[in-house]
Amino acid sequence: MKVVISLGGIFFSDAEKLKKIAAVFDELAQSYNLCVVTGGGERAREYIKIARDLGANEALCDYLGIALTRINAKLLIAALKHAYPEPFSDYKEAALAKAHDKPLQGLRGRGAEPHSGKIAVMGGVSPGYTTDAVAAILAEYVNAELLLNVTSVDGIYDADPRKYPGARKYDKLSPKELVALTMKEELKAGSRIVIDPVAAKIIERSGIKTIVINGSNPQNIVDAVHGKHQGTEIS
Ligand code: UTP
Repeated sequence: MKVVISLGGIFFSDAEKLKKIAAVFDELAQSYNLCVVTGGGERAREYIKIARDLGANEALCDYLGIALTRINAKLLIAALKHAYPEPFSDYKEAALAKAHDKPLQGLRGRGAEPHSGKIAVMGGVSPGYTTDAVAAILAEYVNAELLLNVTSVDGIYDADPRKYPGARKYDKLSPKELVALTMKEELKAGSRIVIDPVAAKIIERSGIKTIVINGSNPQNIVDAVHGKHQGTEIS
């Protein structure tokens, strides 16, 4: 089974957090064909803010965000045992590397199918969206069965739960409902949205099953891949 994971930038704040997540990815890669797209987090937002204060336009701010997501991709690679040595900067490169690699012998567990056991990691690609959209496009391109959005909240809410304690979580959403929800969001560099509108449209057109979960407990990632989760499912 092919799985693409969008990993929020929050998980790059310290080495311990990243180590735990990386161990889970390494373990999953023994059974599943895995790609991970890394977010830029607070560091990206800091750079974007400084650039904006200097008068930079949104596209330039986006490029700064992309640079930070790629730095985080390198950090994740440093933490992983079974990854390609450099982040990919293009969907096709990532897919081709995977397609041309020799399959790993003795793959085990559920979802095992011939693949190299190596994790493809990539950051941002081009201005106008976030790494959620990158992960959605990559998932579409490699025909992934599952797109997992790993974030620091429990799923998609009707309002930001960090600001509004009474916000209600959606257990399930249709792609159409997801598009309607996300289209209300502002698409500015560095904006804080759980799933960006471009990602929502890609999820809608590709029909890829998508789950948004809280990765603060990395076991949630394993459970979600195995079909058990308490996040928001878009299908
Ligand atoms: P992120 O993917 O980290 O944004 O990209 P996010 O998902 O909102 O944040 P976290 O990491 O989950 O908290 C950071 C910024 O980089 C630019 C955008 O400005 C985005 O807000 N970016 C990223 C792009 O323009 N294109 C990309 O392909 C990726």
